[in-house]
Amino acid sequence: MNILVTGGTGYIGSHTVVELIGAGHDVVIVDNLSNSEEFVVDRIEQIAGIRPAFVKADLRDENALRTAFSDFEKIDSVIHFAAFKAVGESVQNPLLYYDNNISGMITLLKVMNDFGVGSMVYSSSCTVYGESDKLPVDEQSPIKRAESPYGFTKQVGERILEDLAVSRGFSSVILRYFNPTGAHDTSLIGELPLGVPNNLVPYITQTAIGEREMLTVNGNDYDTPDGTNIRDYIHVVDLAVAHLRALERLSEGKNADKFEVFNLGTGKGNSVMEVIKTFEEVTGLKLNYRIGPRRAGDVVSIYSDTRKANEQLGWKAERNLADMMLTSWNWQKAVSGLNEKSNR
Ligand code: NAD
Ligand code: UD1
Repeated sequence: MNILVTGGTGYIGSHTVVELIGAGHDVVIVDNLSNSEEFVVDRIEQIAGIRPAFVKADLRDENALRTAFSDFEKIDSVIHFAAFKAVGESVQNPLLYYDNNISGMITLLKVMNDFGVGSMVYSSSCTVYGESDKLPVDEQSPIKRAESPYGFTKQVGERILEDLAVSRGFSSVILRYFNPTGAHDTSLIGELPLGVPNNLVPYITQTAIGEREMLTVNGNDYDTPDGTNIRDYIHVVDLAVAHLRALERLSEGKNADKFEVFNLGTGKGNSVMEVIKTFEEVTGLKLNYRIGPRRAGDVVSIYSDTRKANEQLGWKAERNLADMMLTSWNWQKAVSGLNEKSNR
């Protein structure tokens, strides 16, 4: 198939493009490089042996999008990753997030409609569940009021697709990622956090390599076995493979509904201290950390019920926390000093 991947030079997008090419699909990446680098296209080619087409364009630029759709053979489906994703920044600048994430998606969907492209795999997040009343969280769990503009953009994106299923029979698979981490085994692609990372694992690896002085554990007085927050960390390559399954489900008409939702996690919750311990074990390093205060807005515990994805999508996470820590660390070593563009 010909697959257009928005945000395909980004973290999860790049790993997914590698899997798509590996499965024999032709890929067109559309990305404005607002949070990624063009060399990622070379890296994808190095890993996959085939170079994906790359169009540098902003999703809000309707004309540029039309050109992208008309310049290539008929696009069969779209995987839509392109969005801003920094929770704190979205609180500071909500309009930036509403414009980029929601306007960008609306423009994309309009152009897809005009080009007769009727399906999408959409990147959503477990953040839509907020603090769930029941663990593990399954897809029926209620959507809570979003804690941040970023979270709200993910909820709105889902709702737009739900409405389009009704109005014009548009088919979508919504993938709610838990906590993506890890990198490709080759260490040629991985996450490139901009500035000081907010997320735990890049903060750990940057501390271990000496780019940050010390990790602060955000509170150890929660009602969990060791007092630190629990999350469901999922390897990015496992996530990438799930996108292939979702695409196949759409193209083979195996979707039970025009609008389907799947949780993507391992089903296992790990605490912040367990993540640190696993990192120390696999690397043999001692991490410099201290216990600090709680971080505002953190949910105490969340991990996924993976049964629906296992049974209906035919997908199961195969990589464990040790794999995630090792590949993240190898990637950190490979990437340190790689580019000065944005002090990444
Ligand atoms: P990323 O920032 O690495 O990738 C996003 C890509 O989209 C970047 O390459 C960026 O340049 C591009 N982009 C952003 N706005 C654009 C626009 N208007 N036009 C064209 N390109 C644009 O992020 P990621 O971690 O790969 O996340 C991918 C998707 O998954 C996002 O939708 C994100 O909300 C969602 N998600 C991510 C996580 C996570 O922890 N990484 C968790 C849950 C959901
Ligand atoms: C955050 C976002 C979520 C987003 C997800 C993936 C918030 C409230 N939620 O989730 O919307 O989908 O990232 O990008 O920001 N931690 C530390 N020290 C650090 C960094 C993190 O102790 O320096 C802790 C956190 O408090 C948390 C855990 O590590 O308990 C994981 O944090 P993080 O990687 O930021 O992910 P989430 O909070 O789950």
